[in-house]
Amino acid sequence: MKYDVSERRIWFKGEILNVNDAKINVLSPTSQFGLNVFEGIPCYWNDEKKQLYAFRLNDHYERLIRSARLIQIICPYSIDDMKKALTDVVKANEYQENLSVRQTLFVDGFGSWGSDSPVEMFVAPIPRRKTSAEYNKSGLKVCVTSWRRISENALSPRIKCGANYINSRAGQREALRNGYDTCIFLNEFGKVSEGPGSCFFMIRNKKIITPAHTDAVLESITRDSIIKLAKSIGYDVEERTIDRTELYTADEAFLCGSAMELTPVLSIDGYELGEGEITQILHKEYVNAASGKNGNFNDWVTGIY
Ligand SMILES: Cc1ncc(COP(=O)(O)O)c(C=O)c1O
Repeated sequence: MKYDVSERRIWFKGEILNVNDAKINVLSPTSQFGLNVFEGIPCYWNDEKKQLYAFRLNDHYERLIRSARLIQIICPYSIDDMKKALTDVVKANEYQENLSVRQTLFVDGFGSWGSDSPVEMFVAPIPRRKTSAEYNKSGLKVCVTSWRRISENALSPRIKCGANYINSRAGQREALRNGYDTCIFLNEFGKVSEGPGSCFFMIRNKKIITPAHTDAVLESITRDSIIKLAKSIGYDVEERTIDRTELYTADEAFLCGSAMELTPVLSIDGYELGEGEITQILHKEYVNAASGKNGNFNDWVTGIY
């Protein structure tokens, strides 16, 4: 690795710059109102093949374009442009380690929350071990937060935009204040939705269960990958509404996302859960697939070098 994290290169408005030189106007809508959409794209270093693999790039870019469409900012880039920007900036940093690449479309200029232009992009590779604390834990003490997940009828959790994370923050800060690592949100109807930056799965009687897309969750790429991987090795998967009390009688549970992979939930509101045998199996399947080690899922990975 050529550059220390504080000196790393970032792709910013078409150029590759030192991160300290990438500056955004303080009055821009992204700065004032969180008017941006983004992806956190995981990349895995495969030491055997001496290759860095980006995971499900097309799916990330398709979701980014959907998010932009939903808040009516026009994405000025094609998927190929976005892929090239990611590849160029990762190469410029010469990274040979696991990364989370933040790729963000943001509204720049001097407008307000109603503005739809100018739309700019940055691409910032972040070494995985530098992401937030809850993403680097081996197991999580979780509570059900008293805050509800944002509603489809107010600000849809299906949109991956900066502003949505203020709801995540409310739940996460409450969890930390009360001595937990993180939280699970219920949706406006009192049913289980997701974590502040992750999706939720539980296991009961060897069946893998996760809330449906219509239960106020992000259309998570990790969630989709786990469902497909679990089915490929013979597990039954149910996407359905989950009641709160089901959380407390689960055999195992985990939170998942590009940043945290699959992280076991050790307890929920003080109810201890089981050891997490199936969680471990699925975690291994996921990391293998994302690192280009599962030939059946090779179309999920793109070599950077
Ligand atoms: C609220 C929320 N749910 C779920 C996820 C997991 O999504 P993905 O698997 O696409 O990273 C994330 C991660 O970005 C998230 O922020």
